[in-house]
Amino acid sequence: MTPGSTAVPALPSPRTPDPLAAPALNWGVLGTGWIAERFIGSVRRHTRQRFAAVASRGAARAEEFAVRHDITRAYGSYEELVADGSVDVVYVATEHTAHLTCARLALEAGKHVLVEKPLGINAAQAAEIARLASDRGLFCAEALWTFFLPRFDVVRQVLDSGMLGEVRSVLADMGEYFDPAGGHRILRADLAGGPLLDLGTYPVSLATWVLGRAETVQSSGVQHPAGVNGQVGAVLNTERGGQAVLHTTLFGDTPTTATVAGTEGTLHLPGPFYHPGDVLFTPTGGGTPRTYTEPRTAHEGLHFEATEVARCIKNGQLETPLRPLADSIATMRVMDEIRHRCGIDFPGE
Ligand SMILES: NC(=O)c1ccc[n+]([C@@H]2O[C@H](COP(=O)([O-])OP(=O)(O)OC[C@H]3O[C@@H](n4cnc5c(N)ncnc54)[C@H](OP(=O)(O)O)[C@@H]3O)[C@@H](O)[C@H]2O)c1
Repeated sequence: MTPGSTAVPALPSPRTPDPLAAPALNWGVLGTGWIAERFIGSVRRHTRQRFAAVASRGAARAEEFAVRHDITRAYGSYEELVADGSVDVVYVATEHTAHLTCARLALEAGKHVLVEKPLGINAAQAAEIARLASDRGLFCAEALWTFFLPRFDVVRQVLDSGMLGEVRSVLADMGEYFDPAGGHRILRADLAGGPLLDLGTYPVSLATWVLGRAETVQSSGVQHPAGVNGQVGAVLNTERGGQAVLHTTLFGDTPTTATVAGTEGTLHLPGPFYHPGDVLFTPTGGGTPRTYTEPRTAHEGLHFEATEVARCIKNGQLETPLRPLADSIATMRVMDEIRHRCGIDFPGE
């Protein structure tokens, strides 16, 4: 707020460009799992992007997926797809431990990449992907869809405007119950399971984005009977006295909200905070709250990341300012430290 002013500023509107106005690129998709389905559905319904090819480790699976999603070409290996000259950009929709291999395949074949979150299973892998892209002059981004949503552009403008005053505190969590008998990959140690990379990446990304580099990281974890970490709580402290209290779990559905508090006001993101949804601003000490409201359309919001990628590639940009690779690597560094503090190792580390 301007010094001396008594008016509480209204929440700004999102500046997100019209998804239908983004230049149309030809996409190739690596992997045929849960997120690939949702990404393709959302992008098809809201943009002019085209899906030229899909690849799976199994030819029959690729064929079935291509028919179901009306995709022109189906490949029985990831190598064949990245060699397809009609593909402009590759969307890596494989499980965490395959991100580095798939991103490297695509980049070495000269393709731009959008890699599902997290960029790699640790900061070293994330940095390697960033280096491979930069060495070749190719676009690369982590598909952390939250940062591309109109809701988060409102948050971005509130943070940039200084409306919150000096921000010292971030509270965020993400928890979801996973049935131990359900066979989900999140329960598999060989696929870097546990809540941190799938769910915890959202609160950690928010905290590192808002508060900057964490100087100290403390954490405490609880084991899951499946042999992975089951839940973890973490406290991050920054040099300037910022603090984040974060939690993620597989043992239950937690509120999955986020709060950013400053000397002049508090921003609250009702759960799930990483989906499309509202933003609430409450001035410190009372006053009129301000709200940004939008439909809670969940994964229907996945298309915003695709259109940002298309615009960046057409403009010759190698990264997007909405989720710079340095931020993806910084998030991974904190997650490495959280794991280190409570003894969580991933395959090959
Ligand atoms: N943005 C979001 O909201 C969101 C939501 C969920 C997941 N994700 C991210 O997306 C990625 C995929 O998650 P998902 O839930 O879609 O997983 P999923 O349903 O298990 O699909 C993962 C795909 O990875 C491929 N794959 C490659 N190597 C594999 C291996 N060794 N074992 C198993 N699968 C392997 C498989 O495709 P083929 O068999 O066809 O080769 C599989 O279908 C994860 O990194 C996750 O963090 C993002």
